[in-house]
Amino acid sequence: MDFKVADLALADFGRREIRLAEHEMPGLMAVRREYADSRPLAGAKIMGSLHMTIQTAVLIETLVALGADVRWVSCNIFSTQDHAAAAVVVGPEGTVDAPKGVPVFAWKGETLEEYWWCTDQALRWPDGTGPNMILDDGGDATLLVHKGAEYEKAGAVPSPSEDDPEEWKIILDLLRRTVTDEGRWTAVASAIKGVTEETTTGVHRLYEMFKAGTLLFPAINVNDSVTKSKFDNKYGCRHSVIDGLNRATDVLIGGKVAVICGYGDVGKGCADALRGQGARVIVTEIDPICALQAAMDGFQVTVLEDVVETADIFVTTTGNFDIITADHMSRMKHNAIVSNIGHFDNEIDMAGLAKIPGIVKEEVKPQVHTWTFPDGHQIIVLAEGRLMNLGCATGHPSFVMSNSFTNQVIAQIELFTKTEQYPIGVYVLPKHLDEKVARLHLDALGVKLTKLTKTQAEYIGVDIEGPYKPDHYRY
Ligand code: NAI
Repeated sequence: MDFKVADLALADFGRREIRLAEHEMPGLMAVRREYADSRPLAGAKIMGSLHMTIQTAVLIETLVALGADVRWVSCNIFSTQDHAAAAVVVGPEGTVDAPKGVPVFAWKGETLEEYWWCTDQALRWPDGTGPNMILDDGGDATLLVHKGAEYEKAGAVPSPSEDDPEEWKIILDLLRRTVTDEGRWTAVASAIKGVTEETTTGVHRLYEMFKAGTLLFPAINVNDSVTKSKFDNKYGCRHSVIDGLNRATDVLIGGKVAVICGYGDVGKGCADALRGQGARVIVTEIDPICALQAAMDGFQVTVLEDVVETADIFVTTTGNFDIITADHMSRMKHNAIVSNIGHFDNEIDMAGLAKIPGIVKEEVKPQVHTWTFPDGHQIIVLAEGRLMNLGCATGHPSFVMSNSFTNQVIAQIELFTKTEQYPIGVYVLPKHLDEKVARLHLDALGVKLTKLTKTQAEYIGVDIEGPYKPDHYRY
């Protein structure tokens, strides 16, 4: 088996944590039981690009239990948990000397070149073919396949310009080496039945491609299942934003002034968490609805310029770019903590920070750096501006990821087994499946659900078995 991880000897530790996680992931385990015999993913060749954590290990082994042939990479250079990657490669039945699990190409602390090499490896099956399904988080695997096919059609990979970001130059270089006259990427793209996308930022890319007419295969937007974005993005970040801050700095949060940029699902979870720790939380927003929500939830809402010099902790959650600029950072107070929990690292202008004349970067420990300005004052930047909950801590806990990943598995089954029902486009799962995911998680929390009577159901115009809300309901 071909694979590349940090250290296979970590597999036992990973397996012990996977067993604990399985208990906290009732949705995924229920799906395993439900489909144990029918194995609806038999014949599926799934390439996954999603943070290689313990929770993801349970997802991968669920896909395998349902019959899929899987290859995996992380979707961020810092987010891999090396013991999880090792355990997945070894597999429940294998040993370190004779691994029998899934080929994983991921380790914590990849370079960007290594990151894109890993993505390419996971798209190559040993028999020379590619996947027939993608499970993506942030859209990097989907992007590589689309760009490869686009440049093969055009007959050339464009040369990067001086001003292109470093990462884009690396992608173009990889494509220049992997585009073939026979049309390798075109063949990969045409074999893919569909992609299921995990996060807001990846979904945004998919809708843009669909609008531009460039999307090559159908996609299910897993993020906008209610049981994903209203749980993982919100309650997951409510947990892991604090974990990231604590493990990175152990600074007392109570009493500090914290600025949360963006009050969407992630921002709501982060603001709630920091308030829970006793921070005085300030929110920035561009959307009047979210700004009003923040105000009515009791947060001060203002612009970054007003608080940049006085706040202690900054967390960007926008999925947008250039939120905290180099100029902002130079004006922050000594040891202000700067972090991002959005998908990509461009929310904070790290490139601009590095270009400030005389600035000195020093590593406190991996993924925690001080940046000292020429006047002697410094700031603390977490995870080099990449998502801090996965870079500095271990991301979301199992229970919330069970909701997200049960949606992923159901979406993979939908696209793989009912391909003809999904012409090229971007879809969300039907509401009865969203409700099913929630239902699978109630018992573990001791939730008792009230059952509608027949007359009550008729009165509010729903079926006794659901769905209970119209599609436009917002929760
Ligand atoms: P969302 O769209 O619900 O929220 C983003 C908010 O930021 C919106 O309300 C928007 O109006 C606001 N915003 C945009 N530009 C802004 C600006 N210049 N200043 C202030 N506010 C601005 O998106 P969601 O679901 O909250 O996701 C945010 C990001 O987090 C995405 O990149 C997503 O992929 C990522 N994500 C990260 C997770 C993690 O574990 N680190 C988990 C889930 C999502």
